[in-house]
Amino acid sequence: MKKQIAALILAAIPMFGFAAGGAYPLDKVSIDLTDKAAMQDGAKTFVNYCMGCHGAKFQRYSRVADDLGISEELMMENLVLTDAKYGDHMISSMSEADGKKWFGAAAPDLTLVSRVRGKDWLYTYMRTFYEDPSRPYGVNNKVFDSVGMPNVLVGLQGKQTIGCTQVQVVEDGKKVFDPLTGVAVTEESCDELTIEPNTGTLSEAEFDEKIKNLVTFLEYSANPVKLKSQRIGTYVLLFLAFFFVFAYLLKREYWKDVH
Ligand code: HEC
Repeated sequence: MKKQIAALILAAIPMFGFAAGGAYPLDKVSIDLTDKAAMQDGAKTFVNYCMGCHGAKFQRYSRVADDLGISEELMMENLVLTDAKYGDHMISSMSEADGKKWFGAAAPDLTLVSRVRGKDWLYTYMRTFYEDPSRPYGVNNKVFDSVGMPNVLVGLQGKQTIGCTQVQVVEDGKKVFDPLTGVAVTEESCDELTIEPNTGTLSEAEFDEKIKNLVTFLEYSANPVKLKSQRIGTYVLLFLAFFFVFAYLLKREYWKDVH
């Protein structure tokens, strides 16, 4: 018996390790799964920048079009970039074997990635690639050390470097200002990411928005029926509330003669 318990505990350890994740603090993102414009933008980014290597093989183009309010014509023209048909699964053009050969690791399917990693992890991951000449593709990542994936959005975000800069001191979650002059109190902090000016086409805020939309699309993709389940749940509760009135009246009618 003891042995079995020990085996159970051992089997559970990798799970804890995974949940704990890295030391880098994740940036929080709040997303809105009813925002179709955001998800359409995310889908566009996904097919243009990710599907060369990653697939979303549990998802169909037609389903995405229906859920996000895109017509078949627009979908085929703008979002189906391979020779796939409207009803096909969203499969990447790169095979797993090629991924291993070219990047040292297969590019995993991303349909369910947000269930595994979580939205905050994805949001942080996509924004924390930085220049690192010691890596084969010249980049590394803050939440996925020694990542095999190249920084595919560098053209949008710009080159990000890591180093020391002056950052504002924060105490108990509040930014510190000099009480006399009102000037922000700063200290040198290393391990800070900075984007080199004019190396990307988007501003920092625009890039964050782009990634937020992409994460919204991936979150939808991992659970396309979520919104529908919530809507049905509301109807069920409304029905129960309504039915309760009649059940109660019926009960009163039955028990009238007993009392
Ligand atoms: C040039 C090929 C390539 C492109 C394009 C690409 N990736 Fe990757 N990606 C990879 C490879 C290879 C890995 C595996 C890295 C590793 O295990 O070291 C990966 C890993 C990931 C992971 C981590 C998965 C996990 O849970 O381990 C995420 C998330 C991801 N990519 C998202 C994206 C998104 C979103 C895009 C589009 C904006 C994208 N990738 C574009 C090659 C690519």
